[in-house]
Amino acid sequence: MSKKTMPKNFLWGSASAAYQIEGAYQEDGKGLSNWDEFVKIPGKTFKESTGEVAVDHYHRYLEDIALMAEMGLQTYRFSIAWTRIFPKGKGEVNEAGVKFYEAIIDTCVQYGIEPMITLYHWDIPQALVEEYGGWENAQVVDDFVHYATYLIERFKEKVTYWITLNEQNIFTTFGWLTAMHPPGKFDEEALFYKVNHHAFLAHAKTVCAFKEIHPNGKIGASFAYSPSYALTSKPEDAMAKMDFDNLKNFWWMDVYAYGRYPKTAYTYLESKGVAPKVTQEEAILLKKAASLVDFMGVNYYQTTVCEYNPLDGATPYAQMNTSGKKGTNEVTGVPGVYKNPANPYLETTDWDWSIDPMGLSYACKEITSRYALPIVISENGLGAFDTLTSENEIHDPYRIAYLEAHINALIDASQAGCEIWAYCTWSFTDLLSWLNGYQKRYGFVYVDRDEAGGTMNRYKKDSYYWYQDVIKSNGGSL
Ligand code: NOJ
Repeated sequence: MSKKTMPKNFLWGSASAAYQIEGAYQEDGKGLSNWDEFVKIPGKTFKESTGEVAVDHYHRYLEDIALMAEMGLQTYRFSIAWTRIFPKGKGEVNEAGVKFYEAIIDTCVQYGIEPMITLYHWDIPQALVEEYGGWENAQVVDDFVHYATYLIERFKEKVTYWITLNEQNIFTTFGWLTAMHPPGKFDEEALFYKVNHHAFLAHAKTVCAFKEIHPNGKIGASFAYSPSYALTSKPEDAMAKMDFDNLKNFWWMDVYAYGRYPKTAYTYLESKGVAPKVTQEEAILLKKAASLVDFMGVNYYQTTVCEYNPLDGATPYAQMNTSGKKGTNEVTGVPGVYKNPANPYLETTDWDWSIDPMGLSYACKEITSRYALPIVISENGLGAFDTLTSENEIHDPYRIAYLEAHINALIDASQAGCEIWAYCTWSFTDLLSWLNGYQKRYGFVYVDRDEAGGTMNRYKKDSYYWYQDVIKSNGGSL
């Protein structure tokens, strides 16, 4: 039993996302999102799985939140579906949708669970995609800010913690470079950087508005941070690592924290003709938002290895594995700059994601020294196959081992001087994996369903009781 614990006000939590958990995709006035449409295209997801019913959290949120309370959860991070609030993305508010989230928030508060809201977890109203191309058009900025500020006004008395965008780097990469997510476009780098620029502006305007409406609240973005290591000490590999960081990590985090793009990455993209144009007014806005942001949200799953990539060594995005099954995590690199081989020192998950607890500590230390911002770990967890026994038990020692190692690394980072406010596991109940259906499970609570359906009954896994002890002892039980 170690004596190391997290600081007193630290929050132990868990996270989810509307599309992956709620279901009820056309109930109570909800509009359709890009994901509601995308999953209808044959072959896009494992066994054509969709979130139409998901794990039915829309009808079972009381049961789910009661399970969180029984566990002792201190914060619950969930996302709001834009299409429940503004079914067409703008215009009339759908009061039934607002009431649903109000009920979630009130239930959490009654149990003493701190609600943490994600404003955008990848589901943009399809109406905006059809009207002007969604994130591809600068018009999206004001529509997003209108949606976000409506919610901030409405829930400011009850909710302190807010996340603007979830994994902007992932939804734009999968949406516009590798075609695995909507809108399913390949190799369109100019569009990719343009879309990102719009997303940065939407985030920045929201942060500025937030501070006017809710000065005591806390706001930040959640970034999928994959820290990088050089494959060898060859200078070429070290340079490949640096270029990777600037293009694939700092490109996002520098904008959130400093309000500007990393210069060498920008120059490189400019030479390729794909760097986004930044007006003077935009530069001022991005800087202002960066000065106001309260924390860096980090979704941490794995690290990346960087090796110098000779000019002929790249796989075009269009030839990448887009099956949505095992191996989709492939990252091919940039010719003449870097490529990303596997890490020979690390084990991988059933879906080939490297398992690297120290990488979590690395992520926290890098953010602390580079940005001096507090950190919210908004996601971390293990996707695995689980088995429900005939006694309705789920023995998941692999998940416990994974989380234990990562929490120990988090405690190390905290003791090394990182200010970490919260740790949210992904996820509380099992839920839909965007491309991998219901077989890839992350939860503490097993949900009896597969691609064909199921009873939706909830069963506590061994890891549920284990995390309960971790929370009770503030990490001291490890
Ligand atoms: C990050 C995303 O935010 C979440 O939606 C997803 O399910 C997990 N990673 C696991 O892939």
